Amino acid sequence: MGGDVDPISAVEFLPDPPRVRILDQTALPGEERYLELDSLDGVAEAIRTLRVRGAPAIGIAAAYGLAMQFNAPPGTKEPSQGPEVLAAFEVVAGVLAATRPTAVNLPWALDRLRRRLERWVEDPGDGRDPGTVLLDEARAIHHEDREACGAIGRCWDQIFPVPAGSGPVGVLTHCNAGALATGGMGTALAPVYAAHAQGVNLRVHVGETRPLQQGGRLTAWELTRVGIPVAVTVDSAVGALMARGRVNLVIVGADRVAANGDVANKIGTYSLAVLAREHGLPFYVALPSSTFDPATRTGLEIPVEERSETELRGTPGQRAVPESAGVWNPAFDITPAHLVTAFLTPSGVVRPPFGPSIQAITRSFAGPASGSERHE
Ligand code: MRU
Repeated sequence: MGGDVDPISAVEFLPDPPRVRILDQTALPGEERYLELDSLDGVAEAIRTLRVRGAPAIGIAAAYGLAMQFNAPPGTKEPSQGPEVLAAFEVVAGVLAATRPTAVNLPWALDRLRRRLERWVEDPGDGRDPGTVLLDEARAIHHEDREACGAIGRCWDQIFPVPAGSGPVGVLTHCNAGALATGGMGTALAPVYAAHAQGVNLRVHVGETRPLQQGGRLTAWELTRVGIPVAVTVDSAVGALMARGRVNLVIVGADRVAANGDVANKIGTYSLAVLAREHGLPFYVALPSSTFDPATRTGLEIPVEERSETELRGTPGQRAVPESAGVWNPAFDITPAHLVTAFLTPSGVVRPPFGPSIQAITRSFAGPASGSERHE
């Protein structure tokens, strides 16, 4: 990522006293404000309100939030013995799991911590306490996600076309699947950062991503700070953008990919995929292995978060919708697998047929929570 610019750290763990530090994404791009959260409710609120957001980042935040509870100062600490520790774990994990339903990375991270704790209860090994064991596992999740982003970035040379003319390669993305959304350089934006670092002349286009504007506020913020040209458009202009020949490829992230390759991602992604097909453009979905959900057979089974209607209605002083009108505010949609050209994964570029490759990736995925055990 950009030379002398500090890398973005969307979420991290600070010890003494234990707290989760997040970059409050609701304040961007106006203000780079960091919050140090030292309570379970604080971490849950930050995830629910999208102060920290993006599938991998909320998995990491939840893992750190959980570990934080078991590292709290003496007296306020969760129990550290046998069955009580598992019962306490379930209470804390339940609060975090209830925050947002669509990104599988969140329950995946909690499951992974649960399994680690169960192993500790069976065999405490070197005598480390549960707080240390859980924090180590949370740090491992964070580290692995950073590595996964780097590996996804290395797919760049298989997907970037050599531009026919002298103009820049036009990349269309949606929402924010960059450093702000992950433990590393991003998923959809990782090949963009990698190509830019290799001197590829590119221009990123991003729709605002109504209603919370993750494209206009966040993707534009993180790309401009490293000097990557980016243009924001209203979401409804992306078809016109393609029709004018300004887009060479589309890359988006994912919140959950079912066993058959159906993709849940930010609302509007499905429209982009249909438009890409109409214009003969490749449509790529970039994701770490933790975003594949082999226990969910198709997109129909993916729970789609519906957010508050206040996000659409505006404020009493500046109404965007008449009070008597109904609203529907789904945060995500499902793109059927047949519209996906390829998945960009840490294992490389995965092309159709997706089912067997997804199975192979999830089977070999090192995380102890992989496979069908993930949703017991
Ligand atoms: O509601 P958000 O902002 O959490 O939605 C984020 C997305 O849809 C991202 O594209 C997805 O989580 C992938 S982030 C690497």
